[in-house]
Amino acid sequence: MPVLVEHDAAWANALAAGLPSGTQVVPGVAELGNWLANQSDEYAVVLGPNIALADTVALAERLRYSHPTTGLVLLRHELSSEVFQQAMRAGIPAVVAAADLEGMAAAVERSRQTWEAIRGPAFEGEDRHGKVITVFSPKGGVGKTTVAVNIGVALGGSGAARVCVVDLDLAFGDVAITLQLIPEHTIAEAVEAEEHLDFSLLETLLTRHENCSILAAPTHPEGKDRISPALIRRVLRILRQHFDYIVVDTSPSFDDQVLHAFDETDECILVATLDVPTVKNMKVALETLDALNLVEGHRHLLLNRADDEVGLSPANVESLLKMPVATALPSALAVANATNHGRPIVLSRPDHAVSKALVRLAQKLGAGAGAEKAVNNAERQPIEAAEPKRRVFGRRRK
Ligand SMILES: Nc1ncnc2c1ncn2[C@@H]1O[C@H](COP(=O)(O)OP(=O)(O)OP(=O)(O)O)[C@@H](O)[C@H]1O
Ligand SMILES: [Mg+2]
Repeated sequence: MPVLVEHDAAWANALAAGLPSGTQVVPGVAELGNWLANQSDEYAVVLGPNIALADTVALAERLRYSHPTTGLVLLRHELSSEVFQQAMRAGIPAVVAAADLEGMAAAVERSRQTWEAIRGPAFEGEDRHGKVITVFSPKGGVGKTTVAVNIGVALGGSGAARVCVVDLDLAFGDVAITLQLIPEHTIAEAVEAEEHLDFSLLETLLTRHENCSILAAPTHPEGKDRISPALIRRVLRILRQHFDYIVVDTSPSFDDQVLHAFDETDECILVATLDVPTVKNMKVALETLDALNLVEGHRHLLLNRADDEVGLSPANVESLLKMPVATALPSALAVANATNHGRPIVLSRPDHAVSKALVRLAQKLGAGAGAEKAVNNAERQPIEAAEPKRRVFGRRRK
């Protein structure tokens, strides 16, 4: 978020109106120092027109070392050559007329882009509470989508939790069709708004199922190429502020988008079946996750079609992968039947052994998120109640 430094309340209000909601306003350079000491991710400092030029120059010198990725935008009532010279010498990249709100907003946006290019997506209000559960396998056709959709529906079933299933099989996603939904919008439409994406926009892209929301994959495979890994992280971060659980279905490969989803993942279900190529690929996938330090201690092996008699046993898989099977699902015609009828098995056959095992897994992985949310809500209350008193020199809210 940006920080605006301005001691004149009328100017501070007028300028803050042209900055993103959530912008912090501080009255002077000293207060800015205190603020930045506790904030690592402010991407721009806007120096108001009533802050002495000498102070802004001195500040720029200090920030060059302490916050090298934070952009500076200097506002002046008059743009004289003296101002430009001093700003240039101090390394302030943007000097804008105080009345030019558009110019200021554009300069702040450029700072955000530079910040993100260096450090990854900037994000407002680390208010996160939702749990991201990612379902992955390096092999196709092993049951990832079946598991993701059933876990999502099971978690959303009680009506107590808000659940969003995100289809990150961006080329060939089939979460929507598995739930018999025809999405009007997909994640592809978030691309246009990437830099300004917020929940109010993202919400319009979701498709509603009785138990959960879904964010559908692009309708055509080529849509995948336009979706950047940074967008994936931004989408997941926004969703986790508004949902209790985000269940992510993935493509059977470590593409960049999936890897970035792992960065946001709290719990990971790894789906394997009893065949040598799948187990071999899973071993390589685990080594990759180890090397990248991802979801360590939060990996849950799900053995699908665990009763297939194909010469490899669950015990063999455990010893080859050096991890225990957390959940084993039998092969069952009812599962395929449920997929083909667009009604996940946990809904169509809740008494089935597969449904019971999936519900148990959902409960195990979901444990804690509701409590966390309650705690977060309780903690937020006094802050929200106090908000109206914080006028000019506080975080702006929508
Ligand atoms: N335990 C099971 N018993 C019977 N059929 C199953 C079982 N698990 C999954 N299936 C069926 O196998 C097919 C493939 O499952 P699914 O689409 O979930 O796999 P996937 O890993 O997501 O595949 P892809 O990599 O192509 O996205 C589906 O028709 C599904 O109904
Ligand atoms: Mg799938």
